[in-house]
Amino acid sequence: MPLEEGKDPAVTSRQNQAKNLPFRVLQLFGLFLALCLAFSVVSIYTIRHFGIYNVVTTVNSSIVPCEEELNGLERWVKPPSNLLHNMSDKELFWRASLVPRIKMYPFKRVPKIAFMFLTKGPMPLAPLWERFFKGYEGLYSIYIHSLPSFEGKFRSTSVFHGRQIPSQVAEWGKMSMCDAERRLLANALLDISNEWFILLSESCIPLYNFNFIYHYIKKSKYSFVGAFDDPGPFGRGRYNLNMAPEVIITQWRKGSQWFEINRKLAINLVADSTYYPKFEQFCKPACYVDEHYFPTMLTIQAADLLANRSITWVDWSRGGAHPATFGGADISDGFFRRIFKGRNCTYNNRPSSVCYLFARKFAPSALEPLLNLAPKVLGF
Ligand SMILES: *[C@@H]1O[C@H](CO)[C@@H](O)[C@H](O)[C@H]1NC(C)=O
Ligand SMILES: *[C@@H]1O[C@H](CO)[C@@H](O)[C@H](O)[C@H]1NC(C)=O
Ligand SMILES: *[C@@H]1O[C@H](CO)[C@@H](O)[C@H](O)[C@H]1NC(C)=O
Ligand SMILES: *[C@@H]1O[C@H](CO)[C@@H](O)[C@H](O)[C@H]1NC(C)=O
Repeated sequence: MPLEEGKDPAVTSRQNQAKNLPFRVLQLFGLFLALCLAFSVVSIYTIRHFGIYNVVTTVNSSIVPCEEELNGLERWVKPPSNLLHNMSDKELFWRASLVPRIKMYPFKRVPKIAFMFLTKGPMPLAPLWERFFKGYEGLYSIYIHSLPSFEGKFRSTSVFHGRQIPSQVAEWGKMSMCDAERRLLANALLDISNEWFILLSESCIPLYNFNFIYHYIKKSKYSFVGAFDDPGPFGRGRYNLNMAPEVIITQWRKGSQWFEINRKLAINLVADSTYYPKFEQFCKPACYVDEHYFPTMLTIQAADLLANRSITWVDWSRGGAHPATFGGADISDGFFRRIFKGRNCTYNNRPSSVCYLFARKFAPSALEPLLNLAPKVLGF
């Protein structure tokens, strides 16, 4: 019986509802109007007497930009407008290692080259680079890692303006140098449109115009990382048995620090936690870690993606611990002929005479002659 009692009113009320529907709707509407009116009166009263209005504006000012940021795809597609984030390396590397699993981009993605300048600070050859980049906006991004104390004073119209990333001291031949390179990669990875990553220094120059370099990189099947197996004391001689089993001696590689890699390899380098501790612990001077860590690790993980040669020309012919630096007096047609004709290599498994896209090292005094020769010899 209690059950029946419980059911009955429900049935009747449903029947009544059906009969009195228009009346019910009117009733509800009336109630709603009354509530609205009451609410408005209370609101106006509170605003007048307690100044709640101020609180309301503060809330909208903090919520509105947030909603704009969170809602659109833009948030993931637009490159960060300010490079000076305050993420630690650990936070940054984690963020940079996030990868979409759907390979088709749901927007028009124009792949860009990230030019990553590892510098002490000033960029004496900047005017040459400015000319190189002119007219190719949208196909490149620039990142500068300098000494932390350095404050770049680039004009607001310069391509280098606002392109410094949060930096730390990096010493040649030590792990802090690889840290700096990974930091550059991680910052550049935050821009989803960066597809190729080139490491350069303040003493590097481009040997061709932008269009040529862009297509050479774009059409290459391989990434340009110098990696060779040197059986001598400065190659295998620097290998430490403690690196096994992660790294065995036949995998040990040596190569120039100046690389060009694609996005996949860049993510590998930033995300690595397997090889890093081995190199950090067991490759200290006279094992120069920046000559071994990336070439060895990438050979282990992706040998078939490497061209095993660097695209940055350096002159070691004068001997010694450092490559030659060229000043104003060295720059001539003949000097560049020597660079362009000096070597044969393979490009996409075919013989090619175009082996180098960049060259180093050039002193500030080389700037003027370079600017004069560039239109004729370098094509920009
Ligand atoms: C808050 O909203 C008001 C009214 O829509 C608007 O005028 C004001 O600009 C907003 N505040 C901010 C900071 O966006
Ligand atoms: C970064 O800045 C935010 C506030 O702007 C702060 O809450 C956070 O702790 C900072 N993080 C680091 C690593 O300094
Ligand atoms: C580069 O060297 C690796 C071995 O270290 C080899 O597997 C790969 O095929 C080489 N790349 C090219 C383009 O020859
Ligand atoms: C490169 O190849 C060309 C044509 O095969 C040859 O004439 C030239 O001497 C070679 N240069 C070098 C430096 O080996």
